[in-house]
Amino acid sequence: MTLAALSTAFSCLKAVMNMKKFLATGQAGDGREKALLDYVLRTAEKGNPLSVLNAMDTYAKTSSWLMNIGDDKGPILDKALQKYNPRAVLEIGTFCGYSAVRIASQLLKEGSKLLSFEMSPDNSNIARQIIEHAGLSSKVDVVEGKFNEHLDVAKQFLEEMNSPHFDFVFLDHWKVYYMSDYLLLKENAMVGNGSGICADNMGALVGPADFRKYLKKHAEELETCEHKSNAEYLSWFPDSVTVSTFKLPTQL
Ligand SMILES: C[S@@+](CC[C@H](N)C(=O)[O-])C[C@H]1O[C@@H](n2cnc3c(N)ncnc32)[C@H](O)[C@@H]1O
Repeated sequence: MTLAALSTAFSCLKAVMNMKKFLATGQAGDGREKALLDYVLRTAEKGNPLSVLNAMDTYAKTSSWLMNIGDDKGPILDKALQKYNPRAVLEIGTFCGYSAVRIASQLLKEGSKLLSFEMSPDNSNIARQIIEHAGLSSKVDVVEGKFNEHLDVAKQFLEEMNSPHFDFVFLDHWKVYYMSDYLLLKENAMVGNGSGICADNMGALVGPADFRKYLKKHAEELETCEHKSNAEYLSWFPDSVTVSTFKLPTQL
């Protein structure tokens, strides 16, 4: 392992060391998220999403590790977006806005928009400023709060979009919520026939066992492809991203 890789691994460890606080606040506790914002505002070209993403990747590799989907798994998300070409998009877990910038910069359909939920007020605030710097504010609504506590906001978004359901969903929040939030989406008909559901951190080592099992057991409901890669900015740690197509049961 190189010195740079060791330093990133140490920085990741430092972020998750106080797991209880990390899970409660969505932040590492050493100010790295605010420092990222300053770095992006200082170094990335305004109105240029690619420049913003590059700055965020550089910061995560050279200063402090971050839980963005990152530049190794990011292309899997890009390909999924190209496949589904969605108009109404939902993300759960904005963090500092990396994936929101990645998603919004690839929404090609007329009137397409991303609704992104982030439980941490500080992260929401940072994400909004980063998305604004990338010139994508008109394409993204960041909602502060847990998804399962704000279903009304998601329903209203769909109404305003004149869309019966989300065409694409990106699950990238705390893994304990993947299963229950997916079931909420299904029960509330917020996913429909052909909706794409992409989930990060689905690797066997860190992925949510219940949702992984559900995908395997319900292949008729969620036609899934697992893309193996590595965890964000940790090339030695295996991880994967799943891309599923939701299928409504056929009526007999
Ligand atoms: C892995 S990070 C998201 C990374 C982001 N998608 C990216 O690639 O740039 C997970 C984020 O989800 C947030 N979070 C966790 N549980 C949540 C929930 N139930 N609803 C909304 N946000 C949640 C955390 O605060 C954290 O910022």
